[in-house]
Formats: sequence, C-alpha cells, structure tokens
Amino acid sequence: MKCKKVNTNAASHKTGMARLWELALRNKILVIASCALSVISVAVSFTPFIAIYYLIRELVINFADLSRLNSSYMIKLGWLAFGAAAGAIFINFIALMFSHLAAFNTIYRLKLEFLRHIGLLPLGFHTQNSTGKLRKIADENIEKLEGFIAHQLPDIAGSFAMAIITLIILFVFDWRLGLASFIPVLTAYLIQIKAFGNKQAQIFITKYQNSLEDMNNAAVEYVRGISVVKAFNQTIYSFRKFYETIKTYGVFCLNYTKEYEIYMGLFMLIINSVYLFLIPAVILLSGGVKDYSEFAFAAIFYFIFSVAIPTSFLKLLYVSQNGRMILSGIERMDKIFAAQPLIEPAAPKTVSNYNVSFENVSFTYGGDFKTPAIEDISFTANQGEITALVGPSGSGKSTIAHLIARFYEVSSGTIKIGGTDIRDMSSLYLMSIISFVFQDVFLFKQSVLDNILAGNKNASRNDAIASAKAAMCDEFVKELPQGYDTVIGADNVHLSGGQRQRIVIARTILKNAPIIVLDEATAFADPENEQNIHKAFESLMKDKTVIIIAHRLSTVRNADKIIVIDNGRMDEQGRHEQLVNSGRRYSRMWERYSNAINWKIKRESRV
Ligand SMILES: Nc1ncnc2c1ncn2[C@@H]1O[C@H](COP(=O)(O)OP(=O)(O)OP(=O)(O)O)[C@@H](O)[C@H]1O
Ligand SMILES: [Mg+2]
Repeated sequence: MKCKKVNTNAASHKTGMARLWELALRNKILVIASCALSVISVAVSFTPFIAIYYLIRELVINFADLSRLNSSYMIKLGWLAFGAAAGAIFINFIALMFSHLAAFNTIYRLKLEFLRHIGLLPLGFHTQNSTGKLRKIADENIEKLEGFIAHQLPDIAGSFAMAIITLIILFVFDWRLGLASFIPVLTAYLIQIKAFGNKQAQIFITKYQNSLEDMNNAAVEYVRGISVVKAFNQTIYSFRKFYETIKTYGVFCLNYTKEYEIYMGLFMLIINSVYLFLIPAVILLSGGVKDYSEFAFAAIFYFIFSVAIPTSFLKLLYVSQNGRMILSGIERMDKIFAAQPLIEPAAPKTVSNYNVSFENVSFTYGGDFKTPAIEDISFTANQGEITALVGPSGSGKSTIAHLIARFYEVSSGTIKIGGTDIRDMSSLYLMSIISFVFQDVFLFKQSVLDNILAGNKNASRNDAIASAKAAMCDEFVKELPQGYDTVIGADNVHLSGGQRQRIVIARTILKNAPIIVLDEATAFADPENEQNIHKAFESLMKDKTVIIIAHRLSTVRNADKIIVIDNGRMDEQGRHEQLVNSGRRYSRMWERYSNAINWKIKRESRV
C-alpha cells in the first residue's frame, strides 16, 4: 500500500528545557532583540545611582561654601539621572513589545499547528481524549508560553545583566566595601543552595507541586459531580478523594513550612541586610585610611547603592521559579503532537458497491489496554440488507461500528467496502459514504436547521424539514421558541436525550449516504416513536448497507442477518428464526428478552 505521510512540523524529539528553548526561539530575531534591549535597559537603569552619587559628592565637597557649587554641572547630572531613568523604562517598553510580538506570533502558530494536527488524527483519538482536555491544552497550556517568551526571557537576560553589573560596580569603587556588601548576598544564596539544592528537597518540592495539582483536579471533579453529591445527600467528607487530597496538601504545607520556611526567612532577612555588614566594615576600615574624604565618598556610594543590591539578586531567584509549570504544559501538548495522524493513501480509490466486509479483524485499544476488544471477526454486511449486531454490553459492538469508519486502525485483518480496503480510500471519501447515529449524540451549538443541514450542506431548508418530519422531529421542533431556527443549547432551550437523537437521525436521513450505521439509535425513543422512526428509515434504507446495533431484540428481529458478538468474538450468525432454533446464545438471549417483555406486560395489565 503506497502511502502519503502527513507530518506536522510542530512535532519534536526534544524534551524538557531543550524543547522550551526550541519553542521560544522560533522568532529568534525578535527574541534576541528583546533580550538585548532588556540588558541595555538594565545597564542604563544604573546611571541614576551614579549620577546621584556625583551630585552628593559635589554637594559635600562644597558644603563649607555653597556658592562654589557648580550648578550647571549639577543640573546636567540631575537631567542625566532623570533621562536615564526614563530611558531605561522606554527601552524596557520596546524590549517587552518585541518579546510580546515574538510570544503572540509563536503561540498563534503553535495553536494553528495544534488544531490542524488534531484535525488530522483518527476519530478514535477524539473519543479517547475529551474535548475539555484538548481545549485546556490549546487554551491554557500553550498560553503559558506567553509568560515565558514575553516576560521571563527578557527578565532572565535583564536579571543576569543586573547581577553582573552590580558585581562590577561593587568591586570597582572600593573592593573592600564591595566585598562587605557582597557577603550577605553570597551568604543568602549559600543558604538557599543548602536548603533547596539537594535531591531530597527537589523530590519534596515535586511532591508538593503534585499534591497541589491533585487537589485542584479533585476539586474540579467534585464540582462536576456536585449533582450526585447533592442527590445522595452527601458531604465533602464522603467525597473521599477530594477530602484526602486536601488533607495531603495540608500535611505537605505544614511540613514545607516547618522544613523550609526558616531558610526562606533567613534568605530574605540576610539579603535585605546589606547595611548590617556595610556599617561595621566602614567603621573598621576607617581607622587605616589615608584619604579620608575619598573613603567617605566611597562609603556614601555604597550606602546609596545598597538599596539596589537585594533587588538585583532577588530577580535571579524569581526567574527560575515558573519553569516547571510551563514545562508540564508543554509535555502535555507534545503528547498530543506525538499521536500519529491518519495515513492517507497516495492514490485514493472510490468504490461502486457498498458491501461492507470484515476479514479476520482484530483490534486492541492502544495505551494500557492489552486485551483485544475484538478478535478475528469476519462477516459481510450486504448492500440492500440490514445486518444487526447483538451481544452483551461490552462485547465489542460499538468497536466494530467505529472501525468501519476508520476511527481506529485495525490491529490485524482487513475491512473492505465494495471489495476495497478502507485504508486505500481518502478519509473524506470514506466519511461521505457512511452515515452514523451513535450512542452518544453530538449537536452543535447552532440552530436545529443547521444541525440537520450538517448532514448535507447543499440541501435546502425544505429538504431539511422533510428529513426532520421523517425522523419524528417536526412536532417538538415547532414548539421551540424559534422553530427550526432555535439555537440548541441557548437559554431555556433544553432537548431530551430522545429529541437530540432524533435530530441526529434527521441529519442522517438528509445525508442519504449509501452505508448507514445505527448504534442504539432508537434507544431513547418510546415504542410508538421507535416504530415511526423505523418506518422513516425503511424508505431510506432501500438499496443501502445498513448495520444496526440494538439491545432491544424486537428492533433487530427482522434483520436479514443477525451477528451475535460475545466477549469480542463472533458467536453465531443467521436470521432470527434460524438463531432462535439453534438453541445457542441468541436463543437464550431471545428467551430472556421475551420473558422480560411478558413480565412487563403482565405487570402493566395488573395495574
Ligand atoms: N475508547 C476505549 N478505550 C479503551 N477501551 C475501550 C474503549 N471503548 C470501549 N472499550 C472496551 O472495549 C470493549 C468493547 O466495548 P464496546 O463499546 O465496543 O462494547 P459494546 O458491545 O458496544 O457495549 P454496549 O452494548 O454497552 O454499548 C469493552 O471491554 C470496553 O471496555
Ligand atoms: Mg456500544
């Protein structure tokens, strides 16, 4: 089989920080420009400190005779301080503009690639991954990159520049006073490294973050299940999982505070106490100085500058914190990118008849599922006939139905339509020749009419209404506030399960595809409606391949072929009478079913 490989360029083999950098540097020029400007802005932001130092120096020198003050020099210094402060803000603004441009551009492209990729994945992927999960990845996880590219990257560059420039300035004016100012910074960081730099602490922090995430997830689950909690009159204590996670998180918080808060407190205390180290140093050094005034000026400078020291080094600490959360979001996104898109044939085929045949088909759901959902299934559903699949719950009927439309790739064997392997058809073509009504119904948040027209975009309003009538929808749709133009899911528009299913049936009737797969399509309908819907289907079914799955055996007894599935395997096949007489599984199922019906009738007649 010749195949065209579909690949999205967003997929990557890199993981962790390497992957984060790869994504961040997609707009290399903008990112580099933003980081460079951030460094320049930081450098410029030091100018006011130096200008103020020279101002004070001028003041102190001429303190005895203020008339000797060089006022124009001082005014220039004043403007320089102001200009540098304003300039630093302006340059930082431009840096952030560049970084935001890079961030939005990257996120925009990544989201597009993500949506395009999930569009190419087999339908089965979507039944296995909730829309909520995918939405969360597209909206929240990818969005977190914005914080990294737009804020953290320029911050990282700026913070490093700030720390380095601070160090240089500290040691250029008077290295001894510089050292005295630097000792608290060094001590604070040594405490940090001692507390958090070991493996044990890293494990503890990871556990702490996981327990926080567990609690958040359990809270969401709790809110989702609130109706059950209320209906059974339960309290938070009975919702064990949520309760346990709150308790676990509480214990972690307590331990965290006991173990690590002391280090954090010490860190903050010491890094903010540069004065405490500077003052004794000035006192001790003052004894041995020759040029007293120069020493005094240097001391003044260090006192002014000591305000900037904690800020310079604290920024470095905060910059490293957010990384983990962004990384776990990216990991989730990459898991989706790693899912293989459907392989489209290089030369897609079409068919002229619509017999559906399974040839020794086995299928195992991926991931952790090791046992096959279906095994060695072979049957043919002929065009112009109704083929029914029956069997206990979980026996594999829906799996068989899904495989016909290539929701998943078979693990072994072949599924053919009109003698052609479905893998040799384009997925668009395959979708166009099959109509589905599934157990779980999906309606768009659009008008009833648009929902029906989804089956055939070229059909007219009248065609859609005719289909709706055939599917027994007309009566209840007319009662809706705007009839066929009522938006489903809008305020005060609520449809029952049966009504929703009938709208999907109308969509199927309108689509008029040559292969129809009905999985419990009339499960919600009352007997009268069910009969009417079957009547509507009868004319539709003419000359088509119809595959019906139903629990109510009365629905399938007239089928041309009944296939009995048990535990993923084919048990027997034949017409109703044949199977009833065979004395095997179907006959027992029929017996039980008839007994249940009789019992129900007897009860009803007694009431
Ligand atoms: N998305 C899935 N991922 C993993 N396993 C699945 C998935 N869907 C179904 N299964 C498993 O495959 C087996 C067959 O399920 P299937 O839904 O085909 O049964 P069914 O005959 O349609 O049941 P029912 O009559 O209750 O609808 C079951 O064991 C089920 O747990
Ligand atoms: Mg099913």
